[in-house]
Amino acid sequence: MATEKTFYLETFGCQMNAHDSEKVIGTLQQQGYRQVESEEEAGLILYNTCSIRDKAEQKVFHRLNDYKRLHKQGKRFGVLGCVAQQEGEKIFEKAPYVSMVSGSASYRRLPEMLDRLEAGESRITGLNDRQTEETFETEFTARQNLHRGYITIIEGCDKFCSYCVVPYTRGKERSRGSSSVLAEARRIADQGYTEIQLLGQNVNSYRDPEGKSSFAELLAAVGQIEGIRRVRFTTSHPRDFTRDIVEAMDAVPTLCDHVHLPVQSGSTQVLKRMAREYTREWYLERISWIKAARRSISLSTDIIVGFPGETEEDFIQTMDLLAEVQYDCVFGFKYSARPNTPALVMIDSIPEQEKAHRLQVLLDRQREIQRVNYSRQIGEKIEVMVEGMNPARGQIAGRSSQNKPVNFTTKLPIAPAPGSYLQVKITGAFPNSLVGEAI
Ligand code: SAH
Ligand code: SF4
Ligand code: F3S
Repeated sequence: MATEKTFYLETFGCQMNAHDSEKVIGTLQQQGYRQVESEEEAGLILYNTCSIRDKAEQKVFHRLNDYKRLHKQGKRFGVLGCVAQQEGEKIFEKAPYVSMVSGSASYRRLPEMLDRLEAGESRITGLNDRQTEETFETEFTARQNLHRGYITIIEGCDKFCSYCVVPYTRGKERSRGSSSVLAEARRIADQGYTEIQLLGQNVNSYRDPEGKSSFAELLAAVGQIEGIRRVRFTTSHPRDFTRDIVEAMDAVPTLCDHVHLPVQSGSTQVLKRMAREYTREWYLERISWIKAARRSISLSTDIIVGFPGETEEDFIQTMDLLAEVQYDCVFGFKYSARPNTPALVMIDSIPEQEKAHRLQVLLDRQREIQRVNYSRQIGEKIEVMVEGMNPARGQIAGRSSQNKPVNFTTKLPIAPAPGSYLQVKITGAFPNSLVGEAI
């Protein structure tokens, strides 16, 4: 009897990577592999890596080093994702027991790479140059969430912000045809999914290769599919944030009340050196469109502190921007110098300690803003999608349309099922979550 083919997959990085992993799992299952929960049980160990910050490649090599031991047991290794594309064949030099290295733009060729792996080949690569047109569309997606379905509508990035690895690791920007996006959305709606999240490094840079829909039109069309109750999209880039997106949100009730619009810095000088190609004022104009919507749209952002040359004055401008916009969620990062990026040669003049200090000041301030914002919702009645139980507190955990976590109690004898929608009266608030009672 042939031995069973098993794999273990660990995923790092953004939502696009997590969704790629769902497709990788589906592809492996289609090839006769069974997923297992630990490295020990697996014949094939895969890492889907992220390279965005903090010496990511060193961490991956460190990790691979730990697995020399498992190699002796005859296990095989594959490195996928952004570190794979970035480091390429260097991975075989540094970690000779790795048999497969593949960037995301080559996953379409995974079945063939797996066949070669099974035939005993040991240096299999799926590395694309930046100009690749390949996209990863597959029917075999092993969706990990039973209610929220992710759909990648655009891959890669052409923006080349001076600090960022993504244009090098994910290749050029390429969009998927709107017919194929809508067909997948309808298919998963038929399977019972009620929430769809459209994904892209810059989701709103979408350009329909069929020339049929703008991003806003596609968003509206997905929102009108029967059975779909919530549509989210992430991440939006300010450069491509057009007014018709807000108009679509106002017109189509299923589009969620939330926009994630990374600003990176509140200082036009810093934005310029980051090559973001917008000014503080340009960004704030887009925010004003969103705030002028008929419904209350929650805003979140990403911020980098300590970019090379960021002065105290620049940093204060970022703090002022937080006070002005009043975000409901901020992801703050210390700048980290990354391979191949233009900012690498800029003098990284901000000491680590100062970066850490700025980040702390920023997050403390934001926490206070959120404390006030969230507590304003006490007394409101909002719709919550149930995600699970919080047994420690005897509460049900869910999420609002604005993407805020809501922990609530119910008088019902049986806990509501994950994926169901309930009306909840908000009775309390923390800086990162709401508390309530089901009505
Ligand atoms: N495409 C999105 C962001 C994708 S990366 C956009 O442009 O808005 C996610 C976040 O990681 C970025 O928004 C940025 O805040 C952060 N990031 C990217 N490169 C970084 C670096 N070199 N150092 C610190 N943070 C970084
Ligand atoms: Fe990176 Fe900029 Fe592209 Fe975002 S837009 S992925 S930050 S290069
Ligand atoms: Fe990381 Fe690649 Fe996503 S670098 S953030 S996994 S695009």
